[in-house]
Amino acid sequence: MHRKILVTHALPYANGSLHLGHVIEAVQTDVWVRFQRLRGHDCLFVCAEDSHGTPIMIRAQQQGQSAEQLIAAMAAEHQRDYHDLLVAHDHFHSTHSEENRRYTFELYARLRDAGYISRRAVRQAYDEQAQMFLPDRYVRGICPVCKSADQYGDSCEVCGATYTPADLIDAVSTLSGTAPVWRESEHLFFKLGAFEPMLRGWLAAGEQGSAVRAKLDEWFAAGLQDWDISRDAPYFGFEVPDAPGKYFYVWFDAPIGYIASFEALRAQRGLDFDSYWKSETQSELYHFIGKDISYFHNLFWPAVLHGAGYRRPTGVNVHGFLTVNGQKMSKSRGTFVTARRYLDHLPAEPLRYYFAAKLTSGIEDIDMNLDDFLARTNSDLVGKFVNIASRCAGFIERGGGRLDTQLPDPALYAEFVAAGERIAGLYEQREYGAAIREIMALADRANRYVDLHKPWALAKDPAQAPRVLAVATQGINLFRALMIYLTPVLPRMSGAAGRFLGKPITAWSDVATPLLGVPLGAYEPLATRLDPALVGRLIEAPPAPAAPAAAPLAAPVSRPATAPASNTIGIDDFSRIELRVARVIAAERVEGSDKLLRLSLDLGAEPRQVLSGIRASYAPEQLVGRLVIVVANLAPRKMRFGVSAGMVLCASGEGDGVFLLGADSGALPGMKVT
Ligand code: 2FM
Ligand code: ZN
Repeated sequence: MHRKILVTHALPYANGSLHLGHVIEAVQTDVWVRFQRLRGHDCLFVCAEDSHGTPIMIRAQQQGQSAEQLIAAMAAEHQRDYHDLLVAHDHFHSTHSEENRRYTFELYARLRDAGYISRRAVRQAYDEQAQMFLPDRYVRGICPVCKSADQYGDSCEVCGATYTPADLIDAVSTLSGTAPVWRESEHLFFKLGAFEPMLRGWLAAGEQGSAVRAKLDEWFAAGLQDWDISRDAPYFGFEVPDAPGKYFYVWFDAPIGYIASFEALRAQRGLDFDSYWKSETQSELYHFIGKDISYFHNLFWPAVLHGAGYRRPTGVNVHGFLTVNGQKMSKSRGTFVTARRYLDHLPAEPLRYYFAAKLTSGIEDIDMNLDDFLARTNSDLVGKFVNIASRCAGFIERGGGRLDTQLPDPALYAEFVAAGERIAGLYEQREYGAAIREIMALADRANRYVDLHKPWALAKDPAQAPRVLAVATQGINLFRALMIYLTPVLPRMSGAAGRFLGKPITAWSDVATPLLGVPLGAYEPLATRLDPALVGRLIEAPPAPAAPAAAPLAAPVSRPATAPASNTIGIDDFSRIELRVARVIAAERVEGSDKLLRLSLDLGAEPRQVLSGIRASYAPEQLVGRLVIVVANLAPRKMRFGVSAGMVLCASGEGDGVFLLGADSGALPGMKVT
């Protein structure tokens, strides 16, 4: 069945940079969208800058610019971040746009005309110095329940009590520091309570998980209150057409931004508006959000849509919060990692892979442990998955550069194909972690297949060349099947793999037909291991203690800042030497030298040649298949017999010969030695 799907994630506010919490949601959404497209569905993905509200107005004032200037700068920053994270919206709009004004007015007018809007006076904190009404978060004071100092006007962070700013003891405005006064003003209310039966029916028919459902039941039990959708001037937003001086509350027009962004895309592409926004059967609509904004998306939003004669969402997909190293992200601990800080150090795809591996369809919090992130990227993504291609590519190249015309083990390939439907079901259900586990279990099988058939050993005998080609062809096809399954998560790698395979990956169903008898492109490493030092740098160091203002005049000028204690080296010196595990793929004596062996080494990516002076102690045939340790970043040396790119480490004593250093079995080529 061909599906028409429209997808959104939460619109980022224009007053702050994206952080890893935004990133996990954007990745969750983008993976789902790419998966749907790969399955052949028509899936649109829209987003926008969430541009209205008091914090944005105040931030712009503080920065001495107009709100429009601030929004434009933030929208550009956000789009660059999404782009670099490979999050590919079809369109990125703004809630401060003509389209959004039009739809906000239209939905409001329809709700009003249907009798769902009422007006009444509310008493609110007013800052006489700043001359404005204060949102609850702009009033602080002593908690009326536990008496903790400096709490927000809506809830206490210490005891969890919720209240109104009027309940706070010794309240002050955070804008001017003065005590607010209490003033009355007329506001517009949306009658949410009128939609309770409709909402219960909509939720019962949907696929909300049990935790979301339990929370909604709590809200129903507490009773659905009318929702205040207006704010007094000065406010940055849309003025209510029939209530001068009143503005639509940012949360009224923000989700309408989904419609506005779609409308801009519709105009570009000539799409049909009504089949997306007026019908619940001709298309599907999904919003991906965090659990903090579930109330807005599971109650207000479907009620507003329904009351205005629009379709309701097919599903609201709620995820939990992201923690870093087990704790809430915190600026003082340095764990508040912005998207740009991540991107300045590391590529996008390992993060996409890691988040996918951790995501479920539930709302439990997700922890990004940096050691785990490093280990999973290096051992799973590079050591297992990419390793399948890198260890087979060279054999195809040496065997003529063309895949064999048939698979030696079609039954094994058929198992990989059969797993595809199970994996697709998991993506569809947003059980990405389970999908990744299935894929990695298959990667283990593919590696075991190669280990079992030892093409590096077969390659020593020219008569076995057809067998080597067959085994490598099987390996490349198993790799390709898994690359298809990982394409939603790793779109850039999928593109590079498509170039290497000579055939782009365009559909999930590509897996049904193995690639046979075709030439392969040049193999470039599809991913390399992450450097632990760079991962460590994601966490900002706490601010350094202030340096003394000036050095004492009597200090000896010639003394170095830190004198070396002896001939010890620092950890920095050691970490400059890149030691890696390598597997000896081939070894031969070097003509004209009685000391050297020519070794071909697999370091997890491209094969390397090293000329090693171990001929007196080792015969070439003893070495093939062994795991050795290599100085991988030694500058290549041009010798009389060719270039040597690295050094194989040995222990040696005077006159006792040399002894190769190795790695225990289980270590994989390319692993870093630390
Ligand atoms: O919570 C937030 O970050 C909001 N800017 C999300 C808005 S989502 C939608 F409703 F617009
Ligand atoms: Zn309290």
